[in-house]
Amino acid sequence: MLIRQAIPSDYPAILTLQAQNTPEQLTVEQRQQGFIVSQMNEKQLSSINNGLGILIAVEDEQLAGFVCLMPADAQPRPSVVDAMLHALSTQSFDGQPLSQQRLFLYGPVCLSAEWRGKGVLRQLFDAVKERTRNDFDVGALFVNEDNPHSLAAHVNGLGMTALTRFRCHDESYQLIVFATSER
Ligand SMILES: CC(C)(COP(=O)(O)OP(=O)(O)OC[C@H]1O[C@@H](n2cnc3c(N)ncnc32)[C@H](O)[C@@H]1OP(=O)(O)O)[C@@H](O)C(=O)NCCC(=O)NCCS
Repeated sequence: MLIRQAIPSDYPAILTLQAQNTPEQLTVEQRQQGFIVSQMNEKQLSSINNGLGILIAVEDEQLAGFVCLMPADAQPRPSVVDAMLHALSTQSFDGQPLSQQRLFLYGPVCLSAEWRGKGVLRQLFDAVKERTRNDFDVGALFVNEDNPHSLAAHVNGLGMTALTRFRCHDESYQLIVFATSER
């Protein structure tokens, strides 16, 4: 499995994977493995990738998964990110207020169904920390509480820390953080 930064010719495959994993496209059973609600277009992908970057997992030139990384002050932002940043502003992590730490946003993250449960998320996570550890202290993400598989994978599996819950547009989310220095 090769982990690398996306290039523009990867964008169509990323958009296809995103579209395949929105709740409307999934059966109730498939939704148990998680879903994403992002609706990024090619222009937004390009903007994210020209910023902190999009990391992808590739096997035999096929996209196995992607994760987007964004600075916390990225604009424009969906309202759920604003709600997350608001919730975050009163929290501490590793003994320090998060408002005083250099923070970036992790997500959306998505693996193609055939590559789940095979260690690819951990490889992407290692690459995320490697890429961000010089410039950032903490990565932050939100996970919908209706997505217990993603919560378990990130918190129980990868050892991230669930700090608090917040709500946005009648949905409940967990605010999750990790230190970029974790090895
Ligand atoms: C969510 C998603 C990225 C997780 O990736 P995955 O490959 O299915 O994750 P895994 O089940 O392999 O879990 C990752 C790690 O956590 C561990 N883990 C998972 N659930 C666990 C639990 N309840 N307790 C302990 N460890 C657990 C796994 O064993 C694995 O560890 P390993 O790398 O040592 O094998 C993937 O399922 C996906 O893309 N789903 C659709 C889109 C989505 O939900 N995106 C996230 C939106 S927030």
